[in-house]
Amino acid sequence: MLKETFELYNGVKIPKVGFGTWQVPNGDIAYQAVIDALDVGYIHIDTAYVYENEISVGQAIKDAHIKRSELFVTSKLPSHIKTYEETESYFYETLKRLQLDYLDLYLIHAPWPWSNIGQECKEGNAEAWKKMIELYEQRKIRAIGVSNFNVDDLKDLIARTGVVPHVNQIAFFAGHFQKQKETIAFCQENHILVEAYSPLAIGHALNTPLVVSLAEKYQKTPAQILIRYTLEHNTLPLPKSTKKARMEENADLDFSISKEDVLLLDQLSEDPRRFG
Ligand code: A2P
Repeated sequence: MLKETFELYNGVKIPKVGFGTWQVPNGDIAYQAVIDALDVGYIHIDTAYVYENEISVGQAIKDAHIKRSELFVTSKLPSHIKTYEETESYFYETLKRLQLDYLDLYLIHAPWPWSNIGQECKEGNAEAWKKMIELYEQRKIRAIGVSNFNVDDLKDLIARTGVVPHVNQIAFFAGHFQKQKETIAFCQENHILVEAYSPLAIGHALNTPLVVSLAEKYQKTPAQILIRYTLEHNTLPLPKSTKKARMEENADLDFSISKEDVLLLDQLSEDPRRFG
């Protein structure tokens, strides 16, 4: 599964399961997590400037001595950066921290600053996007996209710039389908690949009774049911763990969930303890 790929609308192939590094602290923990993930066979690593772990992620990638062309590395422009000039400097800082000379995928981290969720930044997003298009044309990035964008945010960005993102990375897990279904449908109609971050709902969805009973039915673990569920929707999961055995478990996805069971998972309602 780790070597299987989705194809973006520009023809770039992207490994179907990525290793997420949100909340994995810079230093030994992030370094070892990425070393272990690469050793398990993950070749798609997802980080971001604001995770503050790009230095350790980059060092681990370097020390693993895997051919650069065999890896797929994503990072993200901080969500408060909404100007053309700053987009360029943050991008090159990310490259420097990662010790890379190009990225496979670069995303606008959110349509608004995390400190002011919902703030209107449409013009700023278009400014950042124009610089990202330029970097893409200069082959500094193989694909460009966004994260946490809803349908309105996407429509507006496309209308202002004429360029459709290759990817939209959103929080998606069993229990979040009702909230995300319009965004997923819009993306899929427009050939935008949806990436699912936090497919385990940061661990909160693992004890959901339906998930536990499906795990028994399919002879899989709850984590595997939850990650496989995102693949059944043709979204690309980015599970994360700092434990090597779980990294292996989270990549062992060679089974499928029946349409009926996917529908049951779709109907799970949001647990208020969950985010987003
Ligand atoms: P840990 O790093 O201790 O393994 P998400 O990917 O949805 O954000 O979830 C990440 C959380 O889920 C982390 O707290 C991680 O903890 C935990 N986790 C990851 N994989 C598994 C697994 N297979 N079983 C149980 N918990 C897991």
